Order: sequence, then structure tokens, then C-alpha cells
Amino acid sequence: MIYSKLDQFSSNFLWGTASAAYQVEGAHDTDGKGPSIWDTYTRIPGTTFKNTNGDVAVDHYNQYQTDVALMAEMGLKAYRFSIAWTRIYPKGRGEINEAGLTFYEQLIDTLLANEIEPIITLYHWDLPQHLQDLYGGWESREVIKDFNNYCITLFERFGSKVKYWVSLNEQNIFVSLGYLTGMHPPAVKDKQRMLNANHIASLANATVIQSFRKYVPNGSIGPSFAYSPAYPFSCAPEDVLAAENAEDLNSNWWLDIYCSGRYPKFALKYYEKEGITLATEPGDFELLKAARPNFIGINYYQTSTIQSNGLDGVGESNKMNTTGKKGSSKESGIPGVYKNVSNTFLETTNWDWTIDPTGLRVGLRRLTSRYDLPILITENGLGEFDKLESDNTIKDDYRIAYLNAHIKACKEAITDGVDLLGYCTWSFTDLLSWLNGYQKRYGFVYVDRDEQDVKELKRIRKNSYYWYKDMIASNGETI
Ligand code: BG6
Repeated sequence: MIYSKLDQFSSNFLWGTASAAYQVEGAHDTDGKGPSIWDTYTRIPGTTFKNTNGDVAVDHYNQYQTDVALMAEMGLKAYRFSIAWTRIYPKGRGEINEAGLTFYEQLIDTLLANEIEPIITLYHWDLPQHLQDLYGGWESREVIKDFNNYCITLFERFGSKVKYWVSLNEQNIFVSLGYLTGMHPPAVKDKQRMLNANHIASLANATVIQSFRKYVPNGSIGPSFAYSPAYPFSCAPEDVLAAENAEDLNSNWWLDIYCSGRYPKFALKYYEKEGITLATEPGDFELLKAARPNFIGINYYQTSTIQSNGLDGVGESNKMNTTGKKGSSKESGIPGVYKNVSNTFLETTNWDWTIDPTGLRVGLRRLTSRYDLPILITENGLGEFDKLESDNTIKDDYRIAYLNAHIKACKEAITDGVDLLGYCTWSFTDLLSWLNGYQKRYGFVYVDRDEQDVKELKRIRKNSYYWYKDMIASNGETI
């Protein structure tokens, strides 16, 4: 639809921004924190860009008051952050570390004092290393109990103060990169193991949602899914079918489980034919069906464009662009199913991610049609090289253009009928990008550090900071 006038954002729309513990906090072994799989993995040479890690990150653990003051000055309505499991339970289970709870309590209280709604992510990839060593982390059903116990600790402590909770961040990414392409810890490359670890993660997600209902009956919880809606490369029926394959295998596989407690039929049959057996147990699907979330969280960065792929076609690639050298990522796919190709209508970032605001609207509409749940955009942003000028400014007008176009797409989607709760940009300050170091920047606030030199970690407002401030003040009318 093309409209001459768009609906307005609701008066309680959550204008937010997001981060994750490992990417901002630093203080990796402070106040009793235990090691996570990322603390360990980044110590293996060659796993990350220039061997960067989150030991110091952008020092949010020590500078959270400065960061929240900058958020308050901006007029931010919501801040999504994750809790590091290993600050609360250094070994993932057993003894509680009170200092960890105190840190997050202070952060939450500071946000609330500034009228910023905290949105807690329970898991953003930093599994306790001890649980990985003890029973293989997400590959054992034991993790369900430990994760649930950790979450209940947080529900009991913060449930009366925090209304919005995100269960798992991008389960589709952490299992695919962790167990299929081997680019994230535990660096496994095995589809069978990936699908089983994924099933266990889904059960953990459902278990925690059920606990949430008991401990935080008036709160809202949902997973954050990395959604890249699939387009057919052409109107050739083979490409359309391939795009349907991609949508089922890459998105509905997770979203159907979250929202309907079942796997998509064609994908299930496909895996069966591939000789993959899902290690399910009696009662699993009853649990999954009974844990429909309150909202779907989506992390949206780009769409994917899909072409048919012969039986002898291109396979999975772990050649990702982690350097910012445009064009260095490789085509990948599944023989006989689909392949990812470039979209000739779309520009890409220096990291080869397509820039597609309309794709966000397409995605929001697809999710609404299929699941009919409210949606919270839990991440959207542009990772780019930013330049600190000699006059201490950062002229990130490309980021303003990117975010502005995506907010416009949100407004159009709302006009279409999507129930959108809020929009969180990725990210507030610059932060560590898991595999891309510190040069791929996303923030409204520049943090003066690079891969080699931590420097003074000075915070400097970018042009986009002032732009988002105005956007919030006008409740989205300045697009
Ligand atoms: C999402 C993650 O995948 O995208 C974030 O939830 C991540 O943690 C963000 O940083 C951007 O990805 P990248 O690879 O550019 O850092």
C-alpha cells in the first residue's frame, strides 16, 4: 500500500537502543565473575578480527553511570541490555554471586530514576564455560534446569521493577554459527548436533517462559530472532520455491516453534530425508505449545535474496566478511535447496549487508500474518567505519539516513496494521562486534578505542545522537 498519510506512533512507543553484556561491559573477571565460552574462545588465536576480545570492551561495567546519563540527556525511553549469566552464577549453577546482582540492580535503578524502561535479555551468547566443560552446554538437557534456575533468580530479584524481558537472543544465529559453520564457540561443524542443540535451546526458552508466567505474571517476555526475510531472486517459479525453502529452513524453523510449538512440515520432512533425527522426547511439544511468547522480538539488519541451487550447487560457506572489505563475503547455500545471491536493487554496507528498509516492513507484515503477536524491534542498525574528526565530531550522516529510512518503514508497517511495541537501535555506544573487532561501529556515541589501543575510552556524541534525540522528542514525526 502507498499512503498519503501515515498513522502516528503510539504515545507509549518504546524508543530504545540495545547492547549485550560481553560487547560492552569489560571487567571480565571483576567482582567474582566467572569465565564464559566467549572469554575462552576469544583467547584462541585467529578466532576473531585481530584477536579482539571483551576483556575491557567499552568498560560499561565501570562507566554505566556516564552511559545512562547520556541516554537520559537523549530522552531515551528504553534500554535493552543483557545480563551475564557468569556474573550471577560464576559457574552457571551453584553459588550465587551477590556482587553480580548488585551491579545489575544499580543499573536498573539508575535507568528507572531516569524514566528509561529497562528491557532485560536473559541470554546473549555468553554461556558459562563451566557448563560447557561439565556437560557440553546446549547439547545436554541439563542446561534447561540450570538456565531456568538462573532466570528464576533474576525474575525474583528484578521482576517487580522490569516489565519487558527477552529470553534468548538470536537462537538461530548462536546455534548456526556455534554448531554448523563453527565460527562461534563451541566451533562445531555438524548439522545433526546443531539441530539437537537447537531443540534443547527451544525447550529451555519454553521452560523459562513458563517460569516467567509464575514469577512475573504482569510482565512481557519474548525471544529475539534474527530475521532476514527471503526474497526470490526472480519470478522464475524455481526461485520462488527456493525462497520458500529458505524461509522455512532459516526462519519458520524457529518462529513456528516459538509461536506455535511445532516445526514447519516441509523442513521437518527435508531433514528426515537427509538422515537427520531430532532427539525429541515425550512431552516436548506440549511444553513448546504451552509457551507462546507475549511478543516476538526481531533483530533486523537485512533481507536475503534467494535463487534455486542444483544438487551439485554451492554449499555452506564460512567465508564471512569480517574486515569491512566490500565484496569479500562468499556465496553460500544448500545444494538442491537454495542459494543466497546479491540483490541488484539494493546497496550494501562495507560488510556486505544489504540495506533494505522495505524489507523490514515486509518482515513485520509476514510475522503479523503468520503469528498475530505484537512485535518489538530489539535491534536494527548500521555497522560502519566512523571517523573522529579533528574538531571532535563524527559526521555519521549515512547512519542517520539508514535509521531514518527504517523508522519510516516501521511507521508504514504500523499504518498497515502491525502492532509494534517499540524500536531499539543497535547500539547506544560503540561496542565490540563479536567477529569484527572495534572498527565496525554501530553507536550513537563514539568510544575512542581501537583494536590495539584501549586509550581513555572517551565517549563522544555523534551527529546521529542529536538526530535520534529529536526523533524521540517528536515521537517519530521528524522522519
Ligand atoms: C546481532 C547480535 O546479530 O547483530 C549482536 O545480536 C551483534 O550481538 C549485531 O553485534 C551486529 O552484528 P555484527 O556481527 O556486525 O556485530
